[in-house]
Amino acid sequence: MTTRSLTDRLGGLAFGGDYNPEQWDEPVWKEDDALMRRARVNLATVGVFSWALLEPDEGRYDFAWLDAHMNRLHANGVAVDLATPTASPPPWFTLAHPDALPVTPEGTRLIHGSRDTYCLTAPAYRSAARRIASALAERYGEHPAVALWHVHNEYGTLCYCDHTAAAFRVWLRARHGSLDALNEAWGTAFWSQRYTSWEQVLPPRVTQWHKNPGQALDFRRFWSDEIIAAYREQRDAIRAHSDRPVTTNLMLPAYQNVDLWALARELDVVTSDQYPSAPGLDAAADAAFHADRTRSLAGGHPWLLLEQGTNTVYDRDRVLAKEPGDILRHTLGHIARGSEGALFFQWRQSRAGAETWHSAMVPHAGPDSRVFREVAQVGEAVARLGELAGSTVTASVAVLHEADAWWALGVDGLPSADLDYHAALGRAHRALWDAGVTVDFAHPEHDLSRFPLVIAPALFLLSDGAAENLRRYVAGGGTLLVQHASGYVDDRMHARLGGYPAEPLREALGIRVEEYRPLRRDERIALSDGTHGTVWSESLRAEGAETLAAYAEGMLTGSPALTRHRFGSGKAWYLSTRLDDAGYAALVARLLDEAGVAPEVPGLPAQVEAVVRRAPDGRRWRVLINHRPEPVPLPEPAHDLLTGSTLSELPPGGCAVLRTT
Ligand code: GLA
Repeated sequence: MTTRSLTDRLGGLAFGGDYNPEQWDEPVWKEDDALMRRARVNLATVGVFSWALLEPDEGRYDFAWLDAHMNRLHANGVAVDLATPTASPPPWFTLAHPDALPVTPEGTRLIHGSRDTYCLTAPAYRSAARRIASALAERYGEHPAVALWHVHNEYGTLCYCDHTAAAFRVWLRARHGSLDALNEAWGTAFWSQRYTSWEQVLPPRVTQWHKNPGQALDFRRFWSDEIIAAYREQRDAIRAHSDRPVTTNLMLPAYQNVDLWALARELDVVTSDQYPSAPGLDAAADAAFHADRTRSLAGGHPWLLLEQGTNTVYDRDRVLAKEPGDILRHTLGHIARGSEGALFFQWRQSRAGAETWHSAMVPHAGPDSRVFREVAQVGEAVARLGELAGSTVTASVAVLHEADAWWALGVDGLPSADLDYHAALGRAHRALWDAGVTVDFAHPEHDLSRFPLVIAPALFLLSDGAAENLRRYVAGGGTLLVQHASGYVDDRMHARLGGYPAEPLREALGIRVEEYRPLRRDERIALSDGTHGTVWSESLRAEGAETLAAYAEGMLTGSPALTRHRFGSGKAWYLSTRLDDAGYAALVARLLDEAGVAPEVPGLPAQVEAVVRRAPDGRRWRVLINHRPEPVPLPEPAHDLLTGSTLSELPPGGCAVLRTT
C-alpha cells in the first residue's frame, strides 16, 4: 500500500487537519461542514485524543458518537485519517493500572492530567493499546470514509520504571548474549561498575555523576525497538480488519527517541509533523529541512505532512505569528519536496483545554479572519495541484544522518557541550538550501554512489561498516566532506585508538587527528584563509591530504584545519572546526562546484526556492517560492497551476507551480 492509493482515494493531494469534534456541538459541526467545503478540505485526522470517549470504562466501548462524525464527514466529501487514541490514556486507566504510568529518570511517577501518561513497556498499557486499535479497526476497517490509519501520536515518550528495567534486560541479553559481553561493551572495568547478575542492570536512571555512555546508548536503541514493536502490534491489529494504509506521525526534526530510519520502514505511508522554531526565512528553511528528511526516510517515495501550524512559530517561551502568505509558502515548501498534500493541527482552535492558544485553521475569531481566508486560499491552491500526485524528487547531495550518531552526542562526559548534532545537521542543510540545491538525507551505511556530493556533519560515532562505506564511496568517485569530531567512537561508544577518525575512513581522508582541542564558549580561532572557527579545533597531521587552510593562531598555528585528499577516483575533504557562516557557505559553494552540482533551477537569485517534482511518465513541475520582497523574473515563461495562467515573473513573496517539459 502506498500513498498512491491515498491520493487516488482523495482524488488529488490531501488538505485538512486534526479534527476534534468532541470539543464542540451540533451547530458548530454544521458550520464545520460548510467551512470544510469552502476550504476544500478532503482529509481530517480524527480520534487522536479520544480514548476517554471511545472507551469510557475498561472494555466498554462507545462508538455511536464517532459513527455519527464518520458518516457526516463522509457525506461531506471528507475522508478520514482515523487515529488510535493510545497517546493519551484516560484517568480510569491510571487508577486501574498505576504501574503503567511513566517514571522519570529521577524516579518520579507521572500522573494523568496531561497527555502521554503511559509507559510503553507496561504490559497493561500494551494490551489496552492493542485492544482499542483492534476494536476501532473492526468497526471502521471497511468504512468508506477511512483513507488512512494513524497509529498513536508522535511516539517517543520515555520511561525508566521497573517494567522498563525488565524489558531492557531482555533486550540486552539478546544484543550482547552474555553478561561478560555486556561488561566489555559498557566498559564496566572502570568505576567498579562490573555486573555479576542481570538483576543489577538498570535503565540509565539518575545517578551520582556521569552515566555510563554504553548503557545510555543501548537504552536509546532499546527504547527505539520498543516503539517499533508497539507500533507493529497496533498496525497488525488494524491490518487484520482493514486494507487501508497505516502510518504514525513522526515528529521531526529535533525529537529523536526513535531510530527514524527503522520506524519509517514499517509505515505504509511516511508521515510527519512540522513546527518551526523561528519565524521568517528561517521557518521556510526549517520546512525544507523537515521535508527533505521526511522524504529521505520514505526512501524518496511520496509522503505526507500530517501537521503544521497555520499561524504558529514556537520561539522557546512564546508563540510567534506567521506572516501573511506563510501558510501557502510553507505548504508548498513541503509539497515541493514530495509531500502529497498538507494537513494542520488543528481544524478549529480549542476554546478550552491545554492547547487553547495553539493556532488552527478556524481561529477563535471564526471564519471572518485573515487566517481562515488564507487557509481557504491554500486549500484552493492545493486542490489545483492534483496532477502532482505520485511524482517524486531527485537530490544530488546527501547529508548523513543516523540515530546512533545523534544519541552518541547526548551522553555524559563528552569533551564539549557544544557538539550539537541537530544544529550541525540543520546547518549543513541550510547552506545547501541557500545554494538552491535539493538535499537528501542518507544513512552512513546506505549506498551513496548516486550522490556526487556527500556531507557528514556530525558522525562522532562511526560504525566500522559506515567507515568502510564512506571509504568505498570516495574511492568510487564521490566527493565527501567530513566535519570535525567525526569517527571518534565505535558503535559501543569505545574510543577509536591510534588517531581519529576511524580507519578506513582516515585512509580515505589522508589525515590523522592526534588531539582534540575544544574551544571555549564564544572563542574564535583564526584560519589562514581569513575565516574563523568556533566550538572545536584539532591537532591534525596531513598524511597524503593537501592543506587548504591551516590554523593561524595559538599552539595549532600551521596545523591543517581544512584538507582535501584525492583517493581512488574521488576526493575526501576534512574540516576540523566549525567554520563561521560566510566561510561555511563559501566552502559548500566550492564543494558543489567541484562535484559538478548546479542549483535545481539555474538562473534564480538567492532566496527563491525551487524544487522539481518528476512523474514516471516524464512530466515535470517546478515549484517556486519567492522569499524576496521584490518580484523575480522567471528564466522562461511557463504555465502556472496555481493561477491557471502563463507566468513570467514571481511576485514578492509569491509562489508558482510551473508545468515544464
Ligand atoms: C504535536 C501534536 C499535536 C499538537 C501539536 C501542537 O505535533 O501531535 O497534538 O499538540 O503538536 O503543536
